[in-house]
Amino acid sequence: MTTTTSRIAGKVALITGAASGIGECTAKLFAEHGAKVVIADIQDQLGQSVCEKIGTSNSIYVHCDVTNEEDVKNAVDTAVSTYGKLDIMFCNAGIADDPNKPGIMNTEKTDFEQVISVNITGVFLGMKHAARVMVPRKMGSIISTASVASRLGGVTPHAYTCTKHAIVGLTKNLAVELGQFGIRVNCLSPHAMVTPLATSFFGFEGEEFEKYVNERGNLKGVTLKTDDVAQAALFLASDEAKYISGHNLFIDGGFSITNPSLNMIKYPS
Ligand SMILES: NC(=O)c1ccc[n+]([C@@H]2O[C@H](COP(=O)([O-])OP(=O)(O)OC[C@H]3O[C@@H](n4cnc5c(N)ncnc54)[C@H](O)[C@@H]3O)[C@@H](O)[C@H]2O)c1
Repeated sequence: MTTTTSRIAGKVALITGAASGIGECTAKLFAEHGAKVVIADIQDQLGQSVCEKIGTSNSIYVHCDVTNEEDVKNAVDTAVSTYGKLDIMFCNAGIADDPNKPGIMNTEKTDFEQVISVNITGVFLGMKHAARVMVPRKMGSIISTASVASRLGGVTPHAYTCTKHAIVGLTKNLAVELGQFGIRVNCLSPHAMVTPLATSFFGFEGEEFEKYVNERGNLKGVTLKTDDVAQAALFLASDEAKYISGHNLFIDGGFSITNPSLNMIKYPS
């Protein structure tokens, strides 16, 4: 890798939910672009294997349940003790509601609270402990994974939608608080793509899943992949985004800005 392609050379990144899906893909991309990466997850074997694929000189795995403040504190401290600092915090770990209990009347309070706990409290704790080590250095980029459900109602279940809206609120509030320290805070809002979270929720896999999403998508001829989200995270993490803060970056091909039922501009087929 030459310096011209190493867009985050010398930076240290911590990624939660990095054993799988978007987090795994982003960990690999960040390492390819010259970063040291801390892989944080609860799936220890998978997380360790991601580390081995990246190379143990560039990455380290740490067990971290994002709902547990001690775990999050430890993950951040591990980044600092192993690599000397933390430049990029990617709060990406997330879960979805139980697909077998659709609708508000079937949603158990404990299930609702579990999604809130991982998707909101987990992000809050990641932001809090990242700020703890970034503020004294007066630099850093904090990124979280929201969703098209951060803007739209009805495309995901109640708890998930609440949590993704909340991530936007947290992102804006923290961007204001940490702006004085030169720290940028942004979030990503992807449409649906193949990962264990999404396929287990929808109940079908691979190409079948992608066909389902593409048929309902706005932008035709392309399929959203985890790499597209990783590339957006790389942009927000890099100095190319040095004046971007408080932003919710949609990676949805325009899905969340339109209502196809009122599409007035039709081309003859
Ligand atoms: N896949 C999609 O279609 C899609 C779309 C929009 C947003 N997202 C969001 O992307 C993020 C990543 O999800 P993904 O699609 O890559 O799914 P994934 O299941 O592949 O990855 C999620 C990871 O989070 C980890 N995790 C779950 N609970 C955790 C906890 N308490 N502590 C630490 N780690 C935990 C899992 O072990 C897993 O490795 C989530 O926030 C999700 O809501 C996904």
